[in-house]
Amino acid sequence: MSSVIDLLKSHRSIRKFTDKAIDPEILNDIFLAGQAAATSSFLQGSTIIRVTNERTRETLAELAGNQPYVRSAAEFMVFCADLKRAGNYCREYDKPFEGDYTEHFIIATVDVALMAQSLVTAAESVGLGICYIGGIRNNPIDVSKLLKLPMGVYPVFGLCLGYPDQNPEIKPRLPLSVIVKNEVYNEDSDQEKIREYDETIREYYRNRTGGGHGISWTEQVATLLSEKSRPHMKQFLEAQGFKFK
Ligand SMILES: Cc1cc2nc3c(=O)[nH]c(=O)nc-3n(C[C@H](O)[C@H](O)[C@H](O)COP(=O)(O)O)c2cc1C
Repeated sequence: MSSVIDLLKSHRSIRKFTDKAIDPEILNDIFLAGQAAATSSFLQGSTIIRVTNERTRETLAELAGNQPYVRSAAEFMVFCADLKRAGNYCREYDKPFEGDYTEHFIIATVDVALMAQSLVTAAESVGLGICYIGGIRNNPIDVSKLLKLPMGVYPVFGLCLGYPDQNPEIKPRLPLSVIVKNEVYNEDSDQEKIREYDETIREYYRNRTGGGHGISWTEQVATLLSEKSRPHMKQFLEAQGFKFK
């Protein structure tokens, strides 16, 4: 196996970091690695806001649902989908701005995720740990105001980056055959494998929390999908210029 494959397979989110700063040259290289990711229609529809101001970090940690590692990680950055930068040029070329279709939203959001994951892989390859922070979408209006995000730009997720001060277990994923299908979608024999996986995940949580009941994967995701999830997002995005035409 290649070392890149080994690296990818060893990923686990890190939520406790040492105080060690990241060398600016290393950080720069990590940003460049992220930026090299493929980008739909060459739009380059991502913007990263690197936040170093302590008070802003503190506020973001609270807005993200009191997640302390937003404050304590060596670096915290917010990944934004950005249709503004490219949209600025419609006027220059005397073209109407039609960049508020659902498709544009998908393009920019996918761009952000691809860039972030390349950046993450680069970071992990030099011994850094990461944790994505979707929690910033708990309060997207406040986050956008704090970061002065203009129309056409929205915060997709945050990212904590730093040297790990913990060594958590790798979180087991679903069996590959449940995820990878041949030719067409089918759920044949998924049930049995998912039930087995439930036991694996129960065990994983039991180890992580030092005993207890250990929730299964099916119960966890069923609960997730039975509850409203950030219902403010649609209105927020529309107000931010993503009209879903
Ligand atoms: C877009 C995204 C948002 C996430 N948001 C949070 C978050 O707000 N807080 C957190 O502690 N973990 C967050 N995570 C981490 C996931 O919980 C984690 O990736 C998942 O449980 C799998 O664990 P692993 O990364 O250790 O393999 C997020 C992950 C992704 C991809």
